[in-house]
Amino acid sequence: MGDLPGILRRLDYLADLGVEAVWLSPFYPSPQRDFGYDVADYCGVDPVFGTLADFDRLLMEAHARGLRVILDLVANHTSNLHPWFVESRGSRTSAKRDWYVWRDPHPNGGHPNNWLSFFGGPAWTLDPQTEQYYLHHFLPEQPDLNYRNPEVLEAMLEVMRFWLERGVDGFRVDAAALLVEDEHFRDEPPNPAWRPGMRERDRLRHVHTEHQPETHEVLRRFRALLDQYSEPGRERVLIGEVYAPFEILVAYYGSPEAPECHFPFNFALMELPPERWTAEDLQALVGAYESIVPGWAWPSWVLGNHDRPRVASRLGEERTRLAHLLLLTLRGTPTLYYGDELGLRDLELSPDQVQDLPGFREHGGRWSRDAARAPMPWDGSPGAGFTVGTPWLPLPVDFPVRNVASQEKDPHSMLRLLRRLLHLRRQTPALTVGAYRSLPAPPGVYAYERFTDSDRVLVAVNLTGRMQTLEASGEILLSTHLDRFGPERAPLGLRPQEGILLRPTGEVVPWR
Ligand code: GLC
Repeated sequence: MGDLPGILRRLDYLADLGVEAVWLSPFYPSPQRDFGYDVADYCGVDPVFGTLADFDRLLMEAHARGLRVILDLVANHTSNLHPWFVESRGSRTSAKRDWYVWRDPHPNGGHPNNWLSFFGGPAWTLDPQTEQYYLHHFLPEQPDLNYRNPEVLEAMLEVMRFWLERGVDGFRVDAAALLVEDEHFRDEPPNPAWRPGMRERDRLRHVHTEHQPETHEVLRRFRALLDQYSEPGRERVLIGEVYAPFEILVAYYGSPEAPECHFPFNFALMELPPERWTAEDLQALVGAYESIVPGWAWPSWVLGNHDRPRVASRLGEERTRLAHLLLLTLRGTPTLYYGDELGLRDLELSPDQVQDLPGFREHGGRWSRDAARAPMPWDGSPGAGFTVGTPWLPLPVDFPVRNVASQEKDPHSMLRLLRRLLHLRRQTPALTVGAYRSLPAPPGVYAYERFTDSDRVLVAVNLTGRMQTLEASGEILLSTHLDRFGPERAPLGLRPQEGILLRPTGEVVPWR
């Protein structure tokens, strides 16, 4: 299945790779209707994944290697088998009735309003016993908690304390934009931008279910608790899962006086359609984000996660190398999805192999999130070093050649590129804390510099199929082809689909 002892065994790999923190998707006891995002006990470990003692060891060993551990806080909803919900649904007068969002049927006898669920159909399910509907933005097996009840907030803070006391370094808040809904339960208006092929839920504009002011209040409370547990040099981090345009996204930082997330994930690169991976679009996208993230706040970049097609399937091998160069040289915290460092592709699954039925429905049956959740191929042995049994999902078809062991041996592999990038980043203050400035460049080339008072590096990415030249001299720290290092003089040639990282000497002259 992929479990905690398994991660423990691979911590050296992660430390060598050069990452600094690991975000674990939910491993809590769960009926697994949604890959653990339906939690039945927030303070335990599902036996499938190990024990609490395994977790404590993992945390200790991670810390011993300088790796931080971030947990997934599934705060918006529980499993329908969580004791809180079992009690809540028991009767209209149960002490926990109000821990979830219950509503009478609409006077016409139907659903309380028109809200829709991510996984298809209404966001309401009728409980026949008590003849009320409960709210669920996801599966009916994922009832929504009611944060308007202060006891619920207190209970979730208690969950956070449980893990903080054990030593975790922070949380990624699942579905952070959905924590609280409109108190008047107003219908959502139709979305004029909806087109066939888009998700059914987006037939509506989510003005009453997403980004509500009360949601920000909950996040402020989460953050205040984390700050209580933070010490200088050992901050505990709050990351929000928020899909939104930049102007809405940045509200999730809160303000310096009332901070919320250290950063909300910025999914813009992950959501950028492949045909828009052009120099002009990238420069505009990064520029728009850079200009809207408040000066006191910290940016984020993400190329992949467990809910979206893998970057190598979206962009192909060559452009994935360029994307990784951007991910690790743009300003802010990069989030790398496991396996993307090998250039793993989406699995091609037949409908009978799909385990993620809700996600399959969400994507209209065209794609399932399992495609991006393949077992990690460590080597070319029959179970790929992942298992000696039958893996929970098929191994990637190309695992005999695309695996960690084989890429270790290949000096030009994607894995070697990622490792080199991660290490360069850690050694180079301009890349970790420097400012960003885009540079003029010939059409099809995206170029920028990152700089501090005493350090400066230049990134240039040729997104065209032609050779390009640039008027700069200096030391090549890295080419995405991994075949070019050391001093070079102007004019520098950039091969098709090549990106470079350069420490320039003298003035950087814009390109010819
Ligand atoms: C988030 C998770 C996704 C899950 C959903 C419901 O979007 O990333 O995997 O299905 O929340 O918890």
